[in-house]
Amino acid sequence: MARKQIAAGNWKMNTTISEGVELAQAIASAQRSDQTLTILGVPFTHIYPLQKKIKASSKILLAAQNCHHLKSGAYTGEISPTMLAAMKVPYVILGHSERREYNHEDNALLSLKLRAALDSGLKVIFCCGEALDIRKSGEHISYVKSQLAASIFHLSAQEMKNIVIAYEPIWAIGTGETASPAQAQEMHEAIRKMLLKQFGKRVAENTSILYGGSVKASNAKEIFGQPDVDGGLVGGASLNAAEFVQIINAF
Ligand code: PGA
Repeated sequence: MARKQIAAGNWKMNTTISEGVELAQAIASAQRSDQTLTILGVPFTHIYPLQKKIKASSKILLAAQNCHHLKSGAYTGEISPTMLAAMKVPYVILGHSERREYNHEDNALLSLKLRAALDSGLKVIFCCGEALDIRKSGEHISYVKSQLAASIFHLSAQEMKNIVIAYEPIWAIGTGETASPAQAQEMHEAIRKMLLKQFGKRVAENTSILYGGSVKASNAKEIFGQPDVDGGLVGGASLNAAEFVQIINAF
């Protein structure tokens, strides 16, 4: 089984429902490579309307951008993985650096969220990545290893089928600065080696590892062309249908 090529958008806290529907419809109706799995990470409010408006035949899958680590309870304002699974949302993004930073989500909490999401039947796009000072110190690979060790190394090989890893160097997110294709490849190869050591050849070969951080139509082809880069998690550029479709078609 060859691993999936994935172009995932992360809309973050952008678009009203009507803007989001328009954006998703424009992406859905464009000529897209059917080799590439298209995922849209949308605000919670948009999930139901998009499910109604986007035809199943357009082969666009939705992702939530977060979920709680418990199934239910007195947690005002939270959304549980059980709720998402009941809506048949296939994916949830966990561990995004913005949530790690602004919502103080640490490796221990993310490990609980991951467990809850998988137990509810969701697939997880799990983000990791280092800040600039760590990159400069040369410790980036061991730092990412510690993030993955804390959150995913204890999973079973079977559970790893439901994990997509997104490597997102924090210094490249929303900054316009992109990791060079060689920097992306170095980390992706290192992550794949970690998977090999931890889970064996099958998991290492079949787990999609996405790059995120200022992916654009102009740089996607070169980044996606690296042997261990299986696609992208795209923020800003996923808010423009024409640009995102070029990224989907960049493999
Ligand atoms: P960006 O965001 O493409 O705007 O840099 C990527 C992300 O945060 O997932």
